[in-house]
Amino acid sequence: MPWREISIFRTVNTHRLATAFLDRFQAQPAAIVRAPGRVNLIGEHTDYNDGFVLPMALDRAVWIALRPRPDRWVQLHSLDFDQTIVFSLDDLNSRDGWEAYVQGVAWALQEAGYRLRGWEGVMAGDVPIGAGLSSSAATELAVARAFTHVSDMAWHPTEMAQLAQKAENQWVGVHCGIMDQLIAAAGVAGHALFIDTRTLATDPIPLPKQARFVVLYSDAPRTLAGSAYNQRRAECEDAVRQLQSALPGITTLRDVSPEQLEAHRDLLPPVIYRRARHVVTENARVLASVRALRLGDVSRLGELMLASHASLRDDYEVSSRELDLLVELAMAAGAWGARLTGAGFGGCAITLCRAEDADAMAQGVIEEYNRRTGRAGYAFVTSAADGARVMGL
Ligand code: GLA
Repeated sequence: MPWREISIFRTVNTHRLATAFLDRFQAQPAAIVRAPGRVNLIGEHTDYNDGFVLPMALDRAVWIALRPRPDRWVQLHSLDFDQTIVFSLDDLNSRDGWEAYVQGVAWALQEAGYRLRGWEGVMAGDVPIGAGLSSSAATELAVARAFTHVSDMAWHPTEMAQLAQKAENQWVGVHCGIMDQLIAAAGVAGHALFIDTRTLATDPIPLPKQARFVVLYSDAPRTLAGSAYNQRRAECEDAVRQLQSALPGITTLRDVSPEQLEAHRDLLPPVIYRRARHVVTENARVLASVRALRLGDVSRLGELMLASHASLRDDYEVSSRELDLLVELAMAAGAWGARLTGAGFGGCAITLCRAEDADAMAQGVIEEYNRRTGRAGYAFVTSAADGARVMGL
């Protein structure tokens, strides 16, 4: 795929949304809401182990232009899917396609006791879909922001992230952790967000001006992702159960230090030991990354990202030939660090490089990748945006 084509992913703005709304409803929208996709800098497969993560909100998002309705109906047109959904808040029943995310959020908000009003709107996004950049969490949080806006509810980012996660776990049926929803709700422009997934405490960490993050999409199917994800979760729980005979105070792998794991490794079958080793060392790498960022030590952050990739590849076994190649090409092109990001098994890698090298890095790595694999990978340079919010019109 020619490099220039990636510009198609940068298409949404308030003007385009307001125009689409006007075409459909012959009126200006009352509000436009926006919630971002995410890329995780480090801390992979730690969130369902009560551990630490360090994602940032992408400057790409799902947007909805909307106005309230006097009744309890929701009508939403997706420009990306060219489909309209219509449903009553008194009869939520769809678990199909993108409608499941919209209805799931309505369900979770109502389950939490919120009295919702209906609304109608137009939705579009420039988070690539199915690429592992959390377009689904962006959709959930944009929908949550729309409901809170029309229903005169206060916006509590952490609570909304928890309800969106509940929608995804219990309505859509995907057993994700809290990372994607919490960064989409609570991201801070110019910052990565350090999240303690046990307490849900968040701490924005400023990103160094001299560095850029480049997202590299592998264009490889993520077919295994669902079943393997659940299998990894089960393996982590297994590790905890077996370690509890020696460490009765632990409830998750968050409670186990790398030293404790080494001391008790004989309790675990080799595969389970390696899964646990990834999680406990990854938690330590996230803490070290936060320290490195606070010191402006980008080359140390790069080393930690590379170590994270090796651990995901060798111990957690969620990488792929394509993701390994992207990391290798980025490092050969002079990046400070690179790693797969998100659940793995396809999707994206992320690389950290000098700001002035970022465009050339993105282009050079992807051209070489596409040439060697025959795939239609693409890349974009990204900066950290805010979490879900209502935009000025
Ligand atoms: C997916 C899940 C997240 C997290 C990552 C792996 O993105 O939705 O909760 O577990 O995988 O770090």
